[in-house]
Amino acid sequence: MDRIAIIGGAQLHGEIPVSGAKNSAIKLMAASLLTDEPLRLTNMPRLADTRFLGKLLSRLGASVTESDGPDGQQTLLHAPEITSGFAPYDLVRQMRASFNVLGPLIARTGQAKVSLPGGCTIGARPVDLHLQALEALGAKIDLHEGYVYAQAPRGLKGAEITFPFVSVGATEHAMLAAVIADGVTVLHNAACEPELLDLQECLNAMGAKVEGAGTPTVTITGVARLHGATHAVIPDRIEMGTFAVAAAMAGGEVRLTRARPGLIDSLLVKLEEAGCGVEPTADGVIIRRSAERLKAVDIETAAYPGFATDLQAQFMALMTVADGESRIRETIFENRFMHAPELMRLGADISVSGGEARVRGVARLEGAEVMATDLRASVSLVIAGLVARGETTVSRIYHLDRGFERLEAKLTACGAQVRRIKGDGEAEL
Ligand code: EPZ
Repeated sequence: MDRIAIIGGAQLHGEIPVSGAKNSAIKLMAASLLTDEPLRLTNMPRLADTRFLGKLLSRLGASVTESDGPDGQQTLLHAPEITSGFAPYDLVRQMRASFNVLGPLIARTGQAKVSLPGGCTIGARPVDLHLQALEALGAKIDLHEGYVYAQAPRGLKGAEITFPFVSVGATEHAMLAAVIADGVTVLHNAACEPELLDLQECLNAMGAKVEGAGTPTVTITGVARLHGATHAVIPDRIEMGTFAVAAAMAGGEVRLTRARPGLIDSLLVKLEEAGCGVEPTADGVIIRRSAERLKAVDIETAAYPGFATDLQAQFMALMTVADGESRIRETIFENRFMHAPELMRLGADISVSGGEARVRGVARLEGAEVMATDLRASVSLVIAGLVARGETTVSRIYHLDRGFERLEAKLTACGAQVRRIKGDGEAEL
């Protein structure tokens, strides 16, 4: 298995282009099942997760073609016919978001058999809200032997749905299912993450009538059919935030480009509070940190526009060397502190109790062998490695490859000493 080795101590200077958002791209790819015409997605990240979903869509009857077009990396998805409505456990288990093919399959063909995704390392992550929304739209749902059997032979019908709490996935899933339902659907207490607005824009380009995404109330007026379209994937705010934290950690000056200012304001406010220079630009942000040590600041994760849970691990890494004690509260996932013991292997002083971690900043970290437990946890260990004395090696980096495009290349271009060690032990730059 590959590992990543980082030699700490180098400042970061340069420019990092932000890729298209993984968490948007995979829902947009699922939208291709809603039409028999081609959907062309540009600004597509090339990641294990997008490749993986491509594989599942191919099994369902879509052709998936990656290429480099005039607008950069693109993927053409075309499902003239759905040849199978079956998403097996071995595929859904590997990437939970594959579960979101359920709604488009029922909406287009009236039936589907999709595996329940099961739990994951950051929490139990049930899908009850997804299923309740699909039932409200008229799908008959039965659960047997780990599978969801869904039927709506006469099509889905618009409905009024109030989510008991905010769920990104359930909001997206309800949108994907309701666009070709009969009548109007109104989603109350919808998630407001920017990826929802991206999904709305893509669906509307395909002929859907969706309004209000990005606010707590989304109205979807069902249309008889969708058509093909071209859509550019929104920049990845989590990748952008990750590199912002990496620059704050290592020191130096990094310009993040091809992004959108405003997507990570809750993080930038905290970086400024900690003593980091933050300068928004037309297509991103410049992060500057001089030699001075950052101050400890507290964070609490929340739904957008609050502090993203997907940036919590990275921020914790930053706080391990800040001056003072930082309190980090995780409110979205019940088990999202698995990076804490790994950071402690590097010399961090962290105690975790329930949903709160207390991080007492230390003067320096020391390189060690550590293990990635999930996607964002793994990148937090790379960030810590940027300042740890000596060499840090991170194993199980298949997590990292799921969601960060060319991570080593982007960091080394700014002066970091990061290299991938192939499974056979041979180092590769
Ligand atoms: C999305 O997950 C993202 N994943 C996550 O990013 C992100 O952390 C999360 O939103 C929150 O922003 C993708 O977009 C692929 P939720 P999602 O439904 O949709 C509970 C990453 O690293 N819940 O908003 O699964 C759930 O357990 C990933 O890229 C239910 O109880 O998140 C959680 O506690 C990790 N029942 C909370 O709601 C449900 O039916 C919020 O989850 C659905 C969710």
